[in-house]
Amino acid sequence: MDGHWWQSGVLYQIYPRSFQDSNGDGVGDLNGIRQRLDYLTQLGINAAWLSPIFLSPMRDFGYDIADHCAIDPVFGTLADFDLLLKDMHSRGIKLILDFVPNHTSNEHPWFRESRSSRVNPKRDWYIWRDAASDGAPPNNWLGAFGGSAWEWDETTGQFYYHAFLKEQPDLNWRNPEVRAAMHDVLRFWLERGVDGFRVDALWHLMKDEHFRDNPPNPAFRPEQAGLERLLQLRSADQPEIYDVVAELRRVLDAYPDRLLIGEIYLPIERLVTYYGKDLSGAHLPFNFQLLNTAWGAQQIANIVAEYESALPPGGWPNWVLGNHDRPRIATRVGGAQARVAAMLLLTLRGTPTLYYGDELGFEQAVVPPEAVQDPWEKQEPGLGLGRDPCRTPMSWDRSLNAGFSPGRPWLPPASDCLRRNVETLASDPNSILNLYRRLLAFRARSNALRMGDYTAVSAENGVFIFERRAKSERLAIALNLTHEPRRVNLPKAFERILISTLVAKPVASVTGEVNLRPDEGIILAAGRESDRRDAETASQ
Ligand code: NOJ
Repeated sequence: MDGHWWQSGVLYQIYPRSFQDSNGDGVGDLNGIRQRLDYLTQLGINAAWLSPIFLSPMRDFGYDIADHCAIDPVFGTLADFDLLLKDMHSRGIKLILDFVPNHTSNEHPWFRESRSSRVNPKRDWYIWRDAASDGAPPNNWLGAFGGSAWEWDETTGQFYYHAFLKEQPDLNWRNPEVRAAMHDVLRFWLERGVDGFRVDALWHLMKDEHFRDNPPNPAFRPEQAGLERLLQLRSADQPEIYDVVAELRRVLDAYPDRLLIGEIYLPIERLVTYYGKDLSGAHLPFNFQLLNTAWGAQQIANIVAEYESALPPGGWPNWVLGNHDRPRIATRVGGAQARVAAMLLLTLRGTPTLYYGDELGFEQAVVPPEAVQDPWEKQEPGLGLGRDPCRTPMSWDRSLNAGFSPGRPWLPPASDCLRRNVETLASDPNSILNLYRRLLAFRARSNALRMGDYTAVSAENGVFIFERRAKSERLAIALNLTHEPRRVNLPKAFERILISTLVAKPVASVTGEVNLRPDEGIILAAGRESDRRDAETASQ
């Protein structure tokens, strides 16, 4: 029944700089994560994805890699990594690494060589172009963090291309040597036993062969990031990408049961093409629809329907509620609806990815100007694009810096961390943390939630209702997306409330009609009397 671990399991993203500091330097590290494995076990997640932990000048906090096979000293050593992996595996938790193939750091030895002369054997490992006849960059492509995507290099008199910071030159994936070298990076970690990769900026790897201009975006608004001035039609998402992804997949497939996730910000119909022909591509092209949708019953029902019908045959769905690049869900939808979002994430069909801190109801933190770290905020200030507010330290208890670090944290802890921390929330049965634990524990027992079918029931009056079903287990999920009470009709068969987002012990029995409180979501069961046990254990 259970399919692969990455189908039935729940993924949890850890931003290593902010999870737990073990050596007092104010930055989280691998030993810190290892100290907190009990927490992950109690929470009930199945796999942890770590944002990059490799040697890096940290211009983009690890997404600028100077050596793909070395751990940055700020995070620890390779021995620390091996120990972490071993301890996670002994608890049955899988480890997923971030793989950043689109670019390296400008301090990577490959780039140093490449930029040293036009005839260096690694010249073609990166993307070098002559200036236009008037000395301007070769085309109009823009960097994701502002400004031109081309940087002039005095030494060799050419421009190099960087989709992100100028300190992150793009690799040339049309060069077979680059592909081979990056495949070796994957094998290095696969041999050590990692269970999979989240591939950074996967849709960027292939650019237009002729480097034609991107067309203007007619819908651009000045409050948007500069990148949005153009439609990224030529600079990414080219047809040649599918071979590249299939090759990555083949590298993984030489090892048993490894997972390939793709970070892909594209509309649904483009996103699903990354499953590849005959599912030869990414197992899970990350589905970010919940990060952008307007928060309403109809809108959410629509994106679920659109996504479900766009999936290729056999393509496994997935849902993401937050990550280190996007505003926190609790700020986007409000604290009350963050609980409904938790229930939605953990009851939709497909693999859920949960972002650290969201289980505590973390809001966007206030980061004063002098504390800003994120290069995007520095390059395009004042637009609210900065990502520091969703990357602040995890709050563990009521001690100094909420137990994150005895030193000065690299980003300030959340202002409400004395109230909103693991220790405090764990002792309150009605807390969002305990709601997450209940939902995760129930999901682990429920075939219908892990692997069952999905059927939309209705999206009226601000209430989204759907069913999940596997063999005799039948569940209804009713989510009140409004701040008002709602009375809803359900098929008669659903008589027992198993979980409510609002109260630890909901009234168990209902008949046909249910009164939902404001901002309440519930899971109801139909079916055999013996399932009643679920109701009892779920509310414990
Ligand atoms: C996507 C990552 O999630 C983001 O944090 C990073 O800045 C860019 N890719 C560049 O690697």
